[in-house]
Amino acid sequence: MNKPKHIAIIMDGNGRWAQKRNLKRVKGHEMGAEVVRSITEFCAASEEINRLTLYAFSTENWKRPRLEVEFLMKLLDKYLKKELPTYLKNNIKFEPIGDLRAFSPNLQKTIEHVKEATKHCDGLVQSLALNYGAKNEIVRAFNALKDKKNITEEMLSNALDCKEDVDILIRTGGDKRLSNFLLWQAAYAELFFIDTLWPDFSIKELEKIISKFKKIERRFGGLK
Ligand code: FPP
Repeated sequence: MNKPKHIAIIMDGNGRWAQKRNLKRVKGHEMGAEVVRSITEFCAASEEINRLTLYAFSTENWKRPRLEVEFLMKLLDKYLKKELPTYLKNNIKFEPIGDLRAFSPNLQKTIEHVKEATKHCDGLVQSLALNYGAKNEIVRAFNALKDKKNITEEMLSNALDCKEDVDILIRTGGDKRLSNFLLWQAAYAELFFIDTLWPDFSIKELEKIISKFKKIERRFGGLK
């Protein structure tokens, strides 16, 4: 049976969740952060899942209205500070991916602090993709390689922010696209596109996806 070692999620639908309730879009992000916590705790308690990568802010999200971007930055800062005890209690290592240099020095400090404080944890690795874009990640990895000739897949893979292949990739919110998320690592991922808006996503729904995943025959291009 397949093991869901690495789960990656495109958390879409926060804005629509809020608008449906006549709330401001940012309320949806706030609720979304609660779901991040509960899904992370569930994955940390699982024996099979060892990595959870969540798309929290893309390289394209800077195009949003300034106030929404500012809100997301504050929310992330608040979340990391508030949830540090949760990371430690559940033995979760925080490993951000993405180009963090674009963030304010204060936010970079918070990110670095939580990363440092949890680096000894050897349970679940929770990666938040922050100012992340897969194309940007691949270009940065390529530029980091000294010898640009005779590059192998392994060499490039080791230079990426996220070095682990994805087993399950979920996108909430109804759209069926990858939006520049983990394009390399998801080469053989099983894709799950669901209509549920991220703030409504539940552990129950994740469990259903995992049990479907376990029954899939994964051939990785070969024959069974
Ligand atoms: C997409 O919903 C979501 C985002 C761009 C940000 C994801 C952020 C969170 C889940 C909350 C913050 C996370 C942490 C870790 C603190 P959308 O706004 O595009 O929704 P829409 O498609 O309905 O407009």
